[in-house]
Amino acid sequence: MSDTEHFYEPRLGHGLPHDPFNAIVGPRPIGWISSRSADGVLNLAPYSFFNAFNYTPPIIGFASTGYKDTVRNIEQTGEFAWNLATRELAEAMNRSCAAVPPEVDEFALAGLTPVASRLIGVPRVAQSPVSFECRRTQILQLQSAAGETVPTWLVLGEVVAVHIDRALLKDGIYDTANAGHILRGGGPADYFTVGPAQLFRMKRPG
Ligand SMILES: Cc1cc2nc3c(=O)[nH]c(=O)nc-3n(C[C@H](O)[C@H](O)[C@H](O)COP(=O)(O)O)c2cc1C
Repeated sequence: MSDTEHFYEPRLGHGLPHDPFNAIVGPRPIGWISSRSADGVLNLAPYSFFNAFNYTPPIIGFASTGYKDTVRNIEQTGEFAWNLATRELAEAMNRSCAAVPPEVDEFALAGLTPVASRLIGVPRVAQSPVSFECRRTQILQLQSAAGETVPTWLVLGEVVAVHIDRALLKDGIYDTANAGHILRGGGPADYFTVGPAQLFRMKRPG
């Protein structure tokens, strides 16, 4: 043990009041995912184990710790939509994570309006300024380094259609700094916003 470094092996516990893992790999963008069950019930849930993985074609993915309704829906229908969570929509996003039975529509629960997508049968969130319509590409169950299966599913999907509120396009450039994105930090309740004050620019060498 060193005085200046806290070292731990996760399998043996972190030895701290809160697991720092989520706070270190963060703040993370939020995959606010709408889906529909095979029998038509709408579903909406946030996933912060979320990111983009490819440009052409664009592929996004999120991980569900446990086989949740969203994964089952996407496995059944092959479709989902991603919706941008903004500061204005933060409380509604939070309400949509309630652990409710599969027959409960989280759009209604969160006070949000579903609006029909163009290429897929799953609606997007009308109040969200940016949405992606996605078709499932792969669902992978994760494994530990020892090769044991983990009860976590990585859901990947190709973005087949994109909706952007024109107010977020400045001279045609997507204005991330002013779009009001929210990001998930660590602990039970930390979130971050980003704005122009956090923007800096750096070009790649060469
Ligand atoms: C900001 C935020 C991020 C979350 N990220 C995840 C995540 O990455 N993976 C996960 O399994 N659950 C995550 N959750 C919890 C799910 O949203 C919650 O379990 C939800 O009820 C799942 O809905 P479903 O069963 O309708 O798919 C998150 C919740 C919040 C509020």
